[in-house]
Amino acid sequence: MISLHVSPKGEFIFETSKIASDKSISHRCAIFSLLSDKPSVVRNFLNAEDTLCTLSISQSLGATINKEGNTLVITPPIELKEPISILDCGNSGTAIRLLMGFLSSLDGFYVLHGDKYLASRPMKRVANPLREIGAIIDGREDGELAPISIRGAKLAPFNYDSPIASAQVKSALILAGLRAEGISTLSEPTLSRDHTEKMLRAMGVDIRSEGCNVTLHPMTKPLKPLDITVPNDPSSGFFFAVAGAITPNSKVTLKNMLLNPTRVEAYKVLQRMGTKIEFIEKENSYDSVGDIVIEYAPLKGVVVEDNIAWLIDELPALSIAFGCAKGKSLVKNAKELRVKECDRISCVVENLKKCGLHVKEFEDGYEVTGGEFKQATVKSYGDHRVAMSFAIAGLKAPMTIRDTQCIQTSFPNFKELLSSLGNVSNGD
Ligand code: S3P
Repeated sequence: MISLHVSPKGEFIFETSKIASDKSISHRCAIFSLLSDKPSVVRNFLNAEDTLCTLSISQSLGATINKEGNTLVITPPIELKEPISILDCGNSGTAIRLLMGFLSSLDGFYVLHGDKYLASRPMKRVANPLREIGAIIDGREDGELAPISIRGAKLAPFNYDSPIASAQVKSALILAGLRAEGISTLSEPTLSRDHTEKMLRAMGVDIRSEGCNVTLHPMTKPLKPLDITVPNDPSSGFFFAVAGAITPNSKVTLKNMLLNPTRVEAYKVLQRMGTKIEFIEKENSYDSVGDIVIEYAPLKGVVVEDNIAWLIDELPALSIAFGCAKGKSLVKNAKELRVKECDRISCVVENLKKCGLHVKEFEDGYEVTGGEFKQATVKSYGDHRVAMSFAIAGLKAPMTIRDTQCIQTSFPNFKELLSSLGNVSNGD
């Protein structure tokens, strides 16, 4: 139960290239490198609990991992092996759901499990469409909850209209479709993050995207290996963007960030609220990468109702900016927030109320009236993004955040970076 105490230190000019590496891309590097027959080279892999779980699962499936400085070389085995133990996905929804798709067509028997938070998150959204094409998947509560068991089987191709915009669902199906016996198609209501499509295309898969529709040809030979530098994670960087946006006379420069449009929408919401933000693209190989400069300006309330899939990880941090804005901010159409690492609607609402703000909760969102943050003690609810968001609120008023061990799942050096902006210490 490690608590974090944060209190304001005043204005800052902060520049960093040390934001945690992108979590979504790191998970995919660990899994996708198993689809090649040659070693993949991955620089700047995220060294955090979630992605280290996925890397260790790749090892359990037979991969050899060599680390030299900041570079991982992931060598796939000649044939993937059936592991003798359960595969521990820790806290990671991305790991368990992508692996469900990946393993469902592999010969063998697999059990995927995770921590108590992951074990209460819905899995039928992936298991059901996979079962429809022949996957043999089971789990607690009629196959809805982990532990999840998978017996590899021959899969049919799919034409799946996904009812939710979820990159985890889309990616699980795409991974299954790579070994299906024919061409598959998938559509989603709005576009979710598209790293799977981009990375597999670069590895040689015939996968085409048009808006929210994907057409996928099964792989006919092992894929080209990855040779990639993982950019820094815009969702992790966003905590520091909010820090700059709520502290008068401050400026934050985030270097070498992933600038994929499905990942920087929250920065655009901050822009709509009044913050000055500049995106400077520096390269574009697997995806667009560059710097983001955030400069304080007074904030005004905003309505957030579109592109929710592009904001799902950043809404807890945005809520801190809502609390500092003039007027009301409203989040709608965001029911998915209820099935993340915690129920992010009720937990954020609860914590903001403890900070003295006026907040209303709805089934699919919430409304925050901007005001003064007051000294408070809040909980992380085991959710890394809730913990880090309220640590940033500590730059407005002294804040104690209970149970912050979860920050290790995505951003182990968060506290060190935050120490440049505020007074930070640990408690029990
Ligand atoms: C992720 C997809 C998102 C996001 C998660 C990472 C991914 O989940 O919340 O942190 O890497 O595919 P959904 O797309 O399932 O909502």
